[in-house]
Amino acid sequence: MRLEDSNLLAAITALGVEREPGISLSEYTSLGIGGTTDLLLIRKHESIPGLLQLLDDSRIPHKFLGGGSNLLVGDGELSWIVIQLARPEPDLVIEGNFARVDAAADLGRTVTYCAKHDLGGMEGLIGVPGTVGGALRMNAGAYGMQIGSYVREVKLYRAATRSIEILRGDQISFEYRHTSFAPDDMMLAVTLELPSKSYREIIQGIRICNEKRRASQPLGQKSAGCIFKNPPGASAGRMIDELGLKGLSVGDARISDRHANFFVNAGKASAKDMLTLIADVRGRVEKTYGVKLENEVVVWHA
Ligand code: EPU
Repeated sequence: MRLEDSNLLAAITALGVEREPGISLSEYTSLGIGGTTDLLLIRKHESIPGLLQLLDDSRIPHKFLGGGSNLLVGDGELSWIVIQLARPEPDLVIEGNFARVDAAADLGRTVTYCAKHDLGGMEGLIGVPGTVGGALRMNAGAYGMQIGSYVREVKLYRAATRSIEILRGDQISFEYRHTSFAPDDMMLAVTLELPSKSYREIIQGIRICNEKRRASQPLGQKSAGCIFKNPPGASAGRMIDELGLKGLSVGDARISDRHANFFVNAGKASAKDMLTLIADVRGRVEKTYGVKLENEVVVWHA
């Protein structure tokens, strides 16, 4: 979608929001898939309520883009624009056991920066690509930990009240790959309370997680991490593997040979290829195991 109304564009610029016209979301997603649209880059949180009001008044559909690492975007010209937070400098401030982190901060760098200040707990998240905001919204987790356990406060734009608010950690529910945030709430910043640990101990934990991940996941290939959530008490990857589906492809969308819940873009996969593969696998798993797998990957149709 292209923003063409010159009055609207002038009002957006007056808010200090920058426009990047006609970007390809294939360059903004770890899957390397996605069509074209305009992107609005926000430098100050305070400009968000005004911007969203303008877009609503002009009936411009929009979506909030984080790091694009758990996202499958439709092909071709998209019928909505994307809004993204610019990463401020600094994006992380440490005070005692608290880390105040901007939503646009890189998750992996946040984990290592905290380690340097003898703050641990998030070792399992090393190697999870994306922003802190995206990790927060999805309650990202790995190797027995989840980011929600450390959240003390969240600054967000709340769609329900159309304003920027602060929520305490105990006002938010964090479940397996799910949170109580509304779909159109926008994460702005988070305060994490992290346990003190020695740098050596944290780095040791990070190394172990890195090795496990390298041994079991197709790092370095274009993917969105795990495609399906694990059903209670079972592993989606193991079920797909047991069905002998590793290597199954639709066009260049392919089930990884290394981990069957990772679907990779082995070349020029389209969203259509990937969605066909997802539907095919879901059908086969349901037929054999009687379990309907739920997407973990977020799908934005064109
Ligand atoms: N397995 C297979 N074949 C496969 C993949 C896995 O037999 O192709 C078996 C493994 O041998 C193991 C079991 O299935 O016995 C579980 O596998 P793994 O330890 O890889 O964990 P997972 O349940 O597949 C989850 C998360 C990952 C996270 C890892 C490590 C989900 C959907 N996935 O994977 O998160 O990195 O545990 O904690 O919860 C993600 O969220 O995108 C993600 C990759």
